[in-house]
Amino acid sequence: MTEIPSTAAQGRRDPFWRLALLVVLLLLALPFVWHALRFGALGLTADLSERTHLFDAARPAANAAIFAHMLAGALITALAPLQLIGPLRRRWPAVHRAAGHAIVAGSLIAGVGGLIYIALRETVGGPLMDWGFGLYGALLILCAVQTLRHGRAGRMAEHRDWALRLFVLAVGSFLYRVHYGLWYLATDGLWTAEGFSGAFDRVQIFAFYLPYLALVELWLRHRRRISAR
Ligand code: HEM
Repeated sequence: MTEIPSTAAQGRRDPFWRLALLVVLLLLALPFVWHALRFGALGLTADLSERTHLFDAARPAANAAIFAHMLAGALITALAPLQLIGPLRRRWPAVHRAAGHAIVAGSLIAGVGGLIYIALRETVGGPLMDWGFGLYGALLILCAVQTLRHGRAGRMAEHRDWALRLFVLAVGSFLYRVHYGLWYLATDGLWTAEGFSGAFDRVQIFAFYLPYLALVELWLRHRRRISAR
């Protein structure tokens, strides 16, 4: 993989539209982050049997896994956009490193917690959703480990590539809700059904992260071609 010279990388300025997009993304995600934080904290401290199918008083391990995954998920959804803001990264590298470690830890907890819940309880959408969310969790864990590994070894080009993949996965859960919100606004819930069994539901099980990962791969190929010229 072609290494971008560090002086060039440091001298590069982020375009305004990218900063604006990241800030808007973060602001839009905040209500969901708050929901996940509150729901996660409540589920870890109170009996929510009457309020949600996710809580089963007879399955404390599954409860701990799913509600801890929400807390960790909230953390990574909020921190991931901040990591891509160049001026913050350049001005406060120690903060970037600390937030990076928090995102890796959060991704491992969110990923492993979600996987444990799927293994112990199964999702509300059945086997297809088990596989779709299971793959999502596995990819999140893989990207977090690779980002950390390459960053620690000083392989900064690889670190950046994996960090970008990790970013789209970290905000993927929020994008899932955005897809549904927009779809309901536009169609009033066409092709959605009980138990996430409608055609739209089934596509969404993968469409909140795979297309975005594919776009990242296209972007990385494009960048490599340019820097190889
Ligand atoms: C990236 C950050 C994440 C956040 C903020 C997050 C947040 C949440 C929240 C708040 C819920 C409860 C449902 C709701 O209120 O909408 C939920 C459900 C769930 N999440 Fe996540 N999540 C994240 C990542 C993941 C990952 C990586 C996995 C896969 C391992 C996962 C698997 C699940 C499962 C299986 C459910 C329960 C689905 C059901 O109702 O059966 N989540 N998540």
